[in-house]
Amino acid sequence: MIDDNINHEYIIRYLRDLLPVRSGLPREMELYAAEHDVPISQPETMKLLEVLIALGKIQTVLEVGTAIGYSAICMAQAGCNHVDTIEISPEAAKIARENFERAGLSKRIHLYEGDAKQVLARMRGSYDMIFIDAAKAQYHEFFPHCMRMLKIGGLLVSDNVLYKGMTATDELLQHRKITIVRRLRRYLDMLSSLPYLQTSVLPVGDGVALSVKCAEEPHENLS
Ligand SMILES: C[S@@+](CC[C@H](N)C(=O)[O-])C[C@H]1O[C@@H](n2cnc3c(N)ncnc32)[C@H](O)[C@@H]1O
Repeated sequence: MIDDNINHEYIIRYLRDLLPVRSGLPREMELYAAEHDVPISQPETMKLLEVLIALGKIQTVLEVGTAIGYSAICMAQAGCNHVDTIEISPEAAKIARENFERAGLSKRIHLYEGDAKQVLARMRGSYDMIFIDAAKAQYHEFFPHCMRMLKIGGLLVSDNVLYKGMTATDELLQHRKITIVRRLRRYLDMLSSLPYLQTSVLPVGDGVALSVKCAEEPHENLS
């Protein structure tokens, strides 16, 4: 396996070789992220999102966790009409805004700066897809707000849910990650058992949970 990846090295290499090399600003951002250790979506995860956007004709996206704006730009370029994205780090938010400007996407991507727990509570949007890609220990806190704003038939995408394999087995569990892993396990149990969701967890990238909201959730699940 490559580093902490959940898939074998030869599989990852093969899958990544299949992907066209990006050009322009997204490629520049990939290189910037690699050089400055910015965690952006893995290539196969980003491609999965683009496939889902094309498949579902997804027009409106909410993203939790912008970083420097890489996935927001790729999603807008994949055909989404509008992306709202939330970032807690002022430094990352500043770079993301500059990137949206450079991509000519400032009118189609709106960045909310702040802690998603508070920002989400104030938001009243309605989205075809919601992409959660922020602090893994907080996914369960983002979830009720995301459900409130996800359209029926809409798609919730939760990234990094297998967390280097630690979610799946204690054999890989690092002691200092125990709280995050316990929360991720509870989060996946919840996604998998809620009657109004159809959830599939895919071993793509660092693990991606896809959940379709099939009906309105009962009121008591909203916080
Ligand atoms: C994995 S990166 C996002 C990568 C981005 N989606 C991409 O693929 O280009 C996670 C980001 O979430 C942000 N973040 C973490 N906790 C957050 C929170 N509670 N509210 C908003 N942003 C948060 C981090 O600062 C970080 O920039």
